[in-house]
Amino acid sequence: MKVAVLGCGQISPLHLENWKKIPGVEVAVVVDIDHKRAMGRQKEYGIKEISDDYTKIINRPDIDIIDVCLPTYLHHDAVIKAARAGKDIFCEKPMARTHKEATDMLKVTRECQVKLQLGFVRRFCNAWLKMQELVKSEILGPRVIWRSASANHGAPSEWFFQKDLGAGPFLDGAIHNYDFANMMFGKVKTVNSNLLTLGTKGDAFDTGIITIEYDSGHMLQMNWSWALPWLSSGDYLEDFIGEKGALLYGCHGEFNYDKNTEEVITFIGQDGKRQFFTYKTNDMFFDEIYSFYKAVKNNKAPLVGGEEGIKALEVALKVLGEL
Ligand SMILES: NC(=O)c1ccc[n+]([C@@H]2O[C@H](COP(=O)([O-])OP(=O)(O)OC[C@H]3O[C@@H](n4cnc5c(N)ncnc54)[C@H](O)[C@@H]3O)[C@@H](O)[C@H]2O)c1
Repeated sequence: MKVAVLGCGQISPLHLENWKKIPGVEVAVVVDIDHKRAMGRQKEYGIKEISDDYTKIINRPDIDIIDVCLPTYLHHDAVIKAARAGKDIFCEKPMARTHKEATDMLKVTRECQVKLQLGFVRRFCNAWLKMQELVKSEILGPRVIWRSASANHGAPSEWFFQKDLGAGPFLDGAIHNYDFANMMFGKVKTVNSNLLTLGTKGDAFDTGIITIEYDSGHMLQMNWSWALPWLSSGDYLEDFIGEKGALLYGCHGEFNYDKNTEEVITFIGQDGKRQFFTYKTNDMFFDEIYSFYKAVKNNKAPLVGGEEGIKALEVALKVLGEL
């Protein structure tokens, strides 16, 4: 299988190093309009060829898979071209900048009968999957609140902070949470958001508080900011709470486990009683790429495709007040 990776920015190493680990797969070419970047990735990963023209590469008959690591506002163009060229496609999240683009992408990939997997890497993260298993076991009770708070500089490139291009953290990073919550909690009931542009990196909302309620009674609360200066950071919170207690990442107490291969989630319940749950650490980026490779090789539907991409995008657009 020959792969072309489009875009040599921040995320591309996590694709390139993992494609390299799969026997029978070759990344034949990397594409970027920034020649220096493309050359850097070529050298680092021993890629034969570089290009600055993704349309030309997409249409090359020797390429089987198009891996889209381009900025979000280019996903639509690259995916549509790749589908029309009959290529199977891995496309980074978010699926697209607008709803119209995303529905178009789903329609065309279906018509052209090509596979489309979206980069919802958290679906392959053993930590989040273990949390989901515990929530579903109702250890916290029938209704839970997933609380997520973080504040930092956010993504490194300017386009992430432009409203029309990347639309900031509540489209970009938070889409992992929306997608995972869609899978874990089900249908969205209400979306409330209070967003602002606190920083000066662009015109997108970069800071805010959102609450998403699901028909199941569960809730996702996020308090995020990308407004801080480079390498600055506020405190982080990531936990689940319910009437019977709380689930926290990490080992909050005495417990023996194999630190080389395992991680712990701690449940703190009535009278402070602790229970520990382990899960195997994994490389979610490898498991994600490998899962797509297997779908293509065995002609199966990818684990996470266009429908899920649109559902998560709809939540993001509601948060942003665009839908
Ligand atoms: N799954 C994850 O956890 C994760 C993490 C980071 C980024 N992403 C997603 O991956 C995508 C890329 O993000 P990134 O952080 O690598 O961005 P980036 O800005 O670091 O890299 C994008 C690259 O695309 C190149 N590019 C821009 N226009 C081009 C064109 N017309 N032709 C060829 N190359 C072009 C740029 O020169 C740059 O090198 C985004 O959609 C982002 O949301 C996903």
